[in-house]
Amino acid sequence: MNVFGVDIGGSGIKGAPVDLERGALAEERHKVLTPQPATPDGVAGCVAEVVAHFGWTGPVGVTFPGVVTGSTIRTAANVDKSWIGVDAGSLIGDRLGGLPVTVLNDADAAGVAEMTFGAGRGRKGTVILLTLGTGIGSALFTDGRLVPNTELGHLELKGHDAETRASTRAKEDEDLTWEHWATRRLRKYLAHVEMLFSPELFIIGGGVSRKADKFLPLIKGIRAEIVPAELRNNAGIVGAAMATRTA
Ligand code: BGC
Repeated sequence: MNVFGVDIGGSGIKGAPVDLERGALAEERHKVLTPQPATPDGVAGCVAEVVAHFGWTGPVGVTFPGVVTGSTIRTAANVDKSWIGVDAGSLIGDRLGGLPVTVLNDADAAGVAEMTFGAGRGRKGTVILLTLGTGIGSALFTDGRLVPNTELGHLELKGHDAETRASTRAKEDEDLTWEHWATRRLRKYLAHVEMLFSPELFIIGGGVSRKADKFLPLIKGIRAEIVPAELRNNAGIVGAAMATRTA
Protein backbone atom coordinates (compact mmCIF):
# COMPACT_ATOMS: atom_id res chain seq x y z
CA MET A 1 0.00 0.00 0.00
CA ASN A 2 1.46 3.36 -1.01
CA VAL A 3 0.56 6.72 0.53
CA PHE A 4 2.11 10.10 -0.16
CA GLY A 5 4.29 11.94 2.37
CA VAL A 6 5.58 15.52 2.24
CA ASP A 7 8.13 17.02 4.63
CA ILE A 8 8.08 20.82 4.93
CA GLY A 9 11.44 22.10 6.15
CA GLY A 10 13.03 25.50 6.58
CA SER A 11 15.14 25.04 3.45
CA GLY A 12 13.42 22.36 1.35
CA ILE A 13 10.02 20.78 0.74
CA LYS A 14 10.34 17.15 -0.28
CA GLY A 15 7.96 14.34 -0.91
CA ALA A 16 7.43 10.90 -2.38
CA PRO A 17 4.99 8.03 -2.42
CA VAL A 18 5.80 5.77 0.55
CA ASP A 19 5.53 2.00 0.77
CA LEU A 20 3.89 1.59 4.18
CA GLU A 21 4.75 -2.11 4.44
CA ARG A 22 8.47 -1.43 4.23
CA GLY A 23 8.53 2.10 5.63
CA ALA A 24 10.55 3.21 2.63
CA LEU A 25 10.13 5.58 -0.30
CA ALA A 26 8.43 3.84 -3.21
CA GLU A 27 10.02 6.27 -5.69
CA GLU A 28 12.89 8.71 -5.59
CA ARG A 29 11.81 11.81 -3.69
CA HIS A 30 11.23 15.19 -5.34
CA LYS A 31 12.46 18.34 -3.61
CA VAL A 32 11.81 22.04 -4.18
CA LEU A 33 13.35 24.94 -2.27
CA THR A 34 11.22 26.45 0.49
CA PRO A 35 10.12 29.92 -0.65
CA GLN A 36 11.48 32.82 1.42
CA PRO A 37 9.53 34.12 3.22
CA ALA A 38 7.90 30.73 3.84
CA THR A 39 4.31 32.00 3.77
CA PRO A 40 1.24 29.71 3.80
CA ASP A 41 0.41 30.41 0.14
CA GLY A 42 3.98 30.01 -1.06
CA VAL A 43 4.55 26.79 0.84
CA ALA A 44 1.17 25.30 -0.12
CA GLY A 45 2.02 26.00 -3.77
CA CYS A 46 5.31 24.11 -3.36
CA VAL A 47 3.57 21.16 -1.71
CA ALA A 48 1.16 21.06 -4.68
CA GLU A 49 4.14 21.11 -7.06
CA VAL A 50 5.78 18.16 -5.28
CA VAL A 51 2.54 16.14 -5.29
CA ALA A 52 1.84 17.00 -8.96
CA HIS A 53 5.33 15.82 -9.91
CA PHE A 54 4.13 12.27 -9.21
CA GLY A 55 0.58 12.77 -10.54
CA TRP A 56 -0.58 11.61 -7.10
CA THR A 57 -4.35 11.62 -6.39
CA GLY A 58 -4.72 9.83 -3.03
CA PRO A 59 -4.33 10.82 0.65
CA VAL A 60 -1.38 13.04 1.54
CA GLY A 61 0.42 13.37 4.88
CA VAL A 62 2.32 16.60 5.49
CA THR A 63 4.80 17.55 8.21
CA PHE A 64 5.14 21.09 9.54
CA PRO A 65 8.02 22.58 11.59
CA GLY A 66 5.81 23.88 14.41
CA VAL A 67 3.06 22.88 16.85
CA VAL A 68 0.08 21.34 15.04
CA THR A 69 -3.24 20.62 16.76
CA GLY A 70 -5.81 18.91 14.55
CA SER A 71 -4.48 20.40 11.33
CA THR A 72 -4.11 23.96 12.66
CA ILE A 73 -0.67 25.52 12.98
CA ARG A 74 0.01 27.02 16.42
CA THR A 75 3.68 28.06 16.27
CA ALA A 76 6.12 28.95 13.51
CA ALA A 77 9.65 29.40 14.88
CA ASN A 78 11.51 29.03 11.57
CA VAL A 79 8.84 29.78 8.94
CA ASP A 80 6.69 32.85 8.33
CA LYS A 81 4.66 33.83 11.40
CA SER A 82 1.53 34.26 9.24
CA TRP A 83 1.16 30.46 9.51
CA ILE A 84 -0.06 30.79 13.10
CA GLY A 85 -3.77 30.01 13.26
CA VAL A 86 -3.92 28.66 9.69
CA ASP A 87 -5.73 25.37 9.09
CA ALA A 88 -2.96 23.83 7.02
CA GLY A 89 -5.04 20.74 6.22
CA SER A 90 -7.73 22.83 4.50
CA LEU A 91 -5.28 25.21 2.82
CA ILE A 92 -3.15 22.45 1.31
CA GLY A 93 -6.17 20.22 0.62
CA ASP A 94 -7.72 23.02 -1.47
CA ARG A 95 -4.48 23.45 -3.42
CA LEU A 96 -4.52 19.71 -4.09
CA GLY A 97 -8.02 19.84 -5.56
CA GLY A 98 -9.67 18.38 -2.45
CA LEU A 99 -7.31 15.46 -1.68
CA PRO A 100 -7.49 14.42 2.01
CA VAL A 101 -4.56 15.97 3.90
CA THR A 102 -3.23 15.05 7.35
CA VAL A 103 -0.80 17.43 9.06
CA LEU A 104 1.55 16.78 11.98
CA ASN A 105 4.71 18.17 13.55
CA ASP A 106 7.87 17.27 11.61
CA ALA A 107 9.78 15.74 14.52
CA ASP A 108 6.72 13.75 15.62
CA ALA A 109 6.50 12.34 12.08
CA ALA A 110 10.19 11.42 12.07
CA GLY A 111 9.81 9.85 15.51
CA VAL A 112 6.84 7.71 14.53
CA ALA A 113 8.76 6.45 11.49
CA GLU A 114 11.88 5.66 13.54
CA MET A 115 9.87 3.86 16.23
CA THR A 116 8.21 1.64 13.63
CA PHE A 117 10.93 1.09 11.03
CA GLY A 118 14.19 2.45 12.43
CA ALA A 119 16.33 2.93 15.51
CA GLY A 120 13.43 2.83 17.97
CA ARG A 121 11.80 -0.38 16.73
CA GLY A 122 10.48 -2.45 19.64
CA ARG A 123 11.92 -0.05 22.25
CA LYS A 124 9.87 0.31 25.43
CA GLY A 125 10.14 2.92 28.17
CA THR A 126 10.88 6.57 27.43
CA VAL A 127 12.47 7.26 24.07
CA ILE A 128 13.23 10.75 22.75
CA LEU A 129 14.01 11.51 19.13
CA LEU A 130 15.67 14.86 18.49
CA THR A 131 16.01 16.28 14.99
CA LEU A 132 18.96 18.63 14.70
CA GLY A 133 18.78 21.08 11.81
CA THR A 134 17.61 24.67 11.37
CA GLY A 135 15.89 24.19 14.73
CA ILE A 136 15.66 21.29 17.15
CA GLY A 137 12.56 19.13 16.95
CA SER A 138 11.54 16.52 19.50
CA ALA A 139 9.34 13.44 19.65
CA LEU A 140 8.70 11.85 23.05
CA PHE A 141 7.52 8.23 23.32
CA THR A 142 6.49 6.21 26.31
CA ASP A 143 6.21 2.49 25.58
CA GLY A 144 5.96 3.31 21.89
CA ARG A 145 3.18 5.87 22.29
CA LEU A 146 3.80 9.42 21.10
CA VAL A 147 3.20 12.48 23.29
CA PRO A 148 2.81 15.03 20.45
CA ASN A 149 4.13 18.60 20.16
CA THR A 150 6.68 18.42 22.98
CA GLU A 151 8.85 21.22 21.48
CA LEU A 152 11.91 20.35 23.58
CA GLY A 153 14.03 22.41 21.19
CA HIS A 154 12.72 25.50 22.94
CA LEU A 155 13.81 24.52 26.45
CA GLU A 156 15.84 27.24 28.07
CA LEU A 157 19.57 26.59 28.14
CA LYS A 158 21.76 29.14 29.95
CA GLY A 159 19.15 31.82 29.34
CA HIS A 160 18.82 31.00 25.63
CA ASP A 161 16.29 29.17 23.51
CA ALA A 162 18.12 25.80 23.32
CA GLU A 163 17.83 25.42 19.55
CA THR A 164 19.72 28.68 19.02
CA ARG A 165 22.70 27.08 20.86
CA ALA A 166 22.62 23.38 20.01
CA SER A 167 21.09 23.06 16.51
CA THR A 168 23.28 22.41 13.50
CA ARG A 169 22.39 25.87 12.31
CA ALA A 170 24.07 27.28 15.44
CA LYS A 171 27.14 25.15 14.64
CA GLU A 172 27.26 26.55 11.10
CA ASP A 173 26.40 30.17 11.94
CA GLU A 174 29.01 30.33 14.68
CA ASP A 175 31.47 28.20 12.74
CA LEU A 176 31.91 25.82 15.70
CA THR A 177 34.15 22.76 15.47
CA TRP A 178 32.55 19.33 15.89
CA GLU A 179 34.31 19.10 19.24
CA HIS A 180 33.07 22.45 20.53
CA TRP A 181 29.52 21.90 19.31
CA ALA A 182 29.31 18.30 20.58
CA THR A 183 30.90 18.78 23.99
CA ARG A 184 29.82 22.31 24.92
CA ARG A 185 26.47 22.64 23.21
CA LEU A 186 24.84 19.32 22.35
CA ARG A 187 26.08 17.49 25.46
CA LYS A 188 24.71 20.18 27.75
CA TYR A 189 21.41 20.14 25.94
CA LEU A 190 21.13 16.35 26.17
CA ALA A 191 22.06 16.47 29.87
CA HIS A 192 19.24 18.96 30.45
CA VAL A 193 16.67 16.85 28.58
CA GLU A 194 17.92 13.76 30.44
CA MET A 195 17.49 15.54 33.78
CA LEU A 196 13.84 16.22 32.91
CA PHE A 197 12.79 12.89 31.37
CA SER A 198 15.42 10.20 32.12
CA PRO A 199 14.90 8.50 28.75
CA GLU A 200 16.33 5.05 28.00
CA LEU A 201 17.22 6.09 24.50
CA PHE A 202 17.96 9.25 22.50
CA ILE A 203 17.64 8.96 18.73
CA ILE A 204 19.46 11.75 16.89
CA GLY A 205 17.85 12.64 13.56
CA GLY A 206 18.11 15.40 10.99
CA GLY A 207 20.65 15.74 8.19
CA VAL A 208 23.56 15.69 10.65
CA SER A 209 22.73 12.11 11.68
CA ARG A 210 24.64 11.08 8.54
CA LYS A 211 27.77 12.37 10.25
CA ALA A 212 27.06 10.75 13.63
CA ASP A 213 30.58 9.29 13.80
CA LYS A 214 31.98 12.84 13.93
CA PHE A 215 30.12 13.88 17.08
CA LEU A 216 28.36 11.05 18.94
CA PRO A 217 31.62 9.50 20.22
CA LEU A 218 32.56 12.91 21.70
CA ILE A 219 29.47 13.05 23.93
CA LYS A 220 30.28 11.70 27.39
CA GLY A 221 28.42 11.54 30.67
CA ILE A 222 24.90 10.92 29.36
CA ARG A 223 23.27 7.86 30.95
CA ALA A 224 20.86 7.13 28.11
CA GLU A 225 21.95 5.25 25.03
CA ILE A 226 22.40 7.67 22.07
CA VAL A 227 22.03 6.38 18.52
CA PRO A 228 21.66 8.00 15.10
CA ALA A 229 18.33 7.78 13.30
CA GLU A 230 18.25 5.05 10.70
CA LEU A 231 15.81 6.47 8.18
CA ARG A 232 17.99 9.55 7.90
CA ASN A 233 16.41 12.36 5.96
CA ASN A 234 13.45 10.30 4.82
CA ALA A 235 11.97 9.78 8.28
CA GLY A 236 9.72 12.85 7.96
CA ILE A 237 8.29 11.75 4.63
CA VAL A 238 7.67 8.21 5.89
CA GLY A 239 6.10 9.46 9.14
CA ALA A 240 3.90 11.92 7.22
CA ALA A 241 2.60 9.10 5.04
CA MET A 242 2.01 6.88 8.10
CA ALA A 243 -0.07 9.65 9.71
CA THR A 244 -2.68 9.40 6.95
CA ARG A 245 -3.50 5.93 8.32
CA THR A 246 -3.88 6.87 11.96
CA ALA A 247 -5.63 10.24 11.53
C1 BGC B 1 9.89 24.03 15.97
C2 BGC B 1 9.45 22.58 16.08
C3 BGC B 1 10.11 21.76 14.99
C4 BGC B 1 11.62 21.96 15.01
C5 BGC B 1 12.30 21.24 13.87
C6 BGC B 1 11.39 24.10 16.01
O1 BGC B 1 11.81 25.43 15.91
O2 BGC B 1 9.34 24.79 17.02
O3 BGC B 1 8.05 22.47 15.98
O4 BGC B 1 9.79 20.41 15.18
O5 BGC B 1 11.94 23.33 14.93
O6 BGC B 1 11.87 21.68 12.64
